[in-house]
Amino acid sequence: MNRNFDSSQNASGTRSSGDLDLALAGRALLRNWPWLLLLSLAVGLAAYFWARAQPPVYRAEAVVLASNGQANSGVVNQTLVTAPPLPDGAAEQALHSSAVITAIAEDLQGVEQLTAPERASLISALETELQRNEITSLQIIPQIDPYGNGLYTLQADARTATAARILADTAATNLIRWDASRALEGIEKSAATLRAQIAEIERRLQTAGSTGVERQTLLSTRASLQENLARVSILLQAASGTLTRVSPAAQPFAPIAPQPLSAALLGGLLALLLGSALTAARALTDKTVKAEDDLLDFNIPTLGVIPRLRRRDVILRGIVDQGKSAGLYEAVGFLRVNILSMFQQQDRLRLTVSSTAPGEGKSSITATLADAFATAGKRVLIIDGDLRRGTQQQVWEKYSASHDWKPLVGMGGSRNLQDALKNPDNVQVLRVEPNVDLLPAGPGLHESLVLLTQLDLGAILDRWSQAYDIVLIDSPPLLAIADGLVLARHTDGIVLVTEARTTSLQAIRAALRRVERSGLHVIGFVLNKVDVQKDTTYSYSYTPRTTQHSLD
Ligand SMILES: Nc1ncnc2c1ncn2[C@@H]1O[C@H](COP(=O)(O)OP(=O)(O)O)[C@@H](O)[C@H]1O
Ligand SMILES: [Mg+2]
Repeated sequence: MNRNFDSSQNASGTRSSGDLDLALAGRALLRNWPWLLLLSLAVGLAAYFWARAQPPVYRAEAVVLASNGQANSGVVNQTLVTAPPLPDGAAEQALHSSAVITAIAEDLQGVEQLTAPERASLISALETELQRNEITSLQIIPQIDPYGNGLYTLQADARTATAARILADTAATNLIRWDASRALEGIEKSAATLRAQIAEIERRLQTAGSTGVERQTLLSTRASLQENLARVSILLQAASGTLTRVSPAAQPFAPIAPQPLSAALLGGLLALLLGSALTAARALTDKTVKAEDDLLDFNIPTLGVIPRLRRRDVILRGIVDQGKSAGLYEAVGFLRVNILSMFQQQDRLRLTVSSTAPGEGKSSITATLADAFATAGKRVLIIDGDLRRGTQQQVWEKYSASHDWKPLVGMGGSRNLQDALKNPDNVQVLRVEPNVDLLPAGPGLHESLVLLTQLDLGAILDRWSQAYDIVLIDSPPLLAIADGLVLARHTDGIVLVTEARTTSLQAIRAALRRVERSGLHVIGFVLNKVDVQKDTTYSYSYTPRTTQHSLD
């Protein structure tokens, strides 16, 4: 017997689960990359058009110079009253204060260069931002050294280039004005005090019929106070802030937003990342066999990948008939060739077809495979070993309603496995097509295992198999009952049918463990019901060029 794999090697697929998970996620990504790419392209495109539909934003910048006047010396310093340097963040606070914003809005009312809608839009934007307490259309970027010298760049965003330029300039004007007012504040206070003192002296001069000396004193005090007030008034004229304008804002050429290309790139990238994360997460949570790759970790070959047929076709015409037409024909052909090449040196072959659970396609695969072997000239016997729920006869009825019973051994006798096991010397089989004979399972039997283990099954099967090249035993699911293992003991190996997107990797692992524990082995997997549209790897079609031939 030629087996091109070592059944003892890791047959239960026991890799560390971390490895398995990562590989699983990786394979899911590989399998789905066309969809992920399509998704990211679609999102990128949507982001592009969305961004393009957004109104433009222009940004203008006005630069304001900050100089710490108190550090100046000499004549200038004696004649100027300068405001103290601005502490960190003060300029920003001031620019975003409701007093300055309101002043800016008021100034904008009178700007002739703006159209009425531009003006209205600017002012309402500022008012809304003020209400929300979040000024976004005006930003200030400080570049100030520790001594309070440097530059403030005022950035103004607006819907048009002119509006942005004017907003930047108006904001700069108002910031400078606010700064200068700080310088005035102190002087104005002392001027007010002086004025109040003078007023008080004047009141006393009028009311008190005072003596000559007292009056004289009051008068001279008033004179000196008045002199001080005059000096302070001169200072008021010369008071200055720490800020001066460097240059007026320039008209921006192009809007800073929207940027459809960046939006598309960002959107596409995000979609790709999110899509990949979701795909990987789905692969990790959904641990069913989806493709041949998922079976790699078991170190058991996948002998065939059978496409999922349309339900209607299976119901109307039966799976055997479908097995002769394009799609299934090639797939079953591969399965047949792979099995035969495994047992090249054997002229007789006996196989058990099983699966982990019911419904994965054991009976269907057994029937189509038998048909494929028969087409290749092999004499095939199918034994429906599913004594509880055998369906092999029904599967063939769709294809040929044959009543052609012929003796397998002896004369007459049983026409199903259940009876044949009790009387193994006289058994008949149903010829379902040339080269394929079938021994049906018989009516449902509960004590099937008792029946199977009581007998010398090996000897019986040997006798029944004599006239055939290939015997296929359709068996019950491995995880449900032990019948499959008992039957498989007398065959060359088990073909394990798995159903794409349904059979779990865990179930396969469990089934393989049972097989291994019985000292048996699975020769290979059949991955059944693969969605050809979903799994593009399997969708190569290579049908004959019939039209070409007929033209020749
Ligand atoms: N490749 C396939 N495409 C579509 N339907 C399938 C395919 N293989 C099996 N089926 C259907 O799946 C169901 C279960 O198949 P069956 O062979 O009876 O499974 P099992 O013998 O493992 O219980 C049946 O209705 C069958 O027609
Ligand atoms: Mg079945």
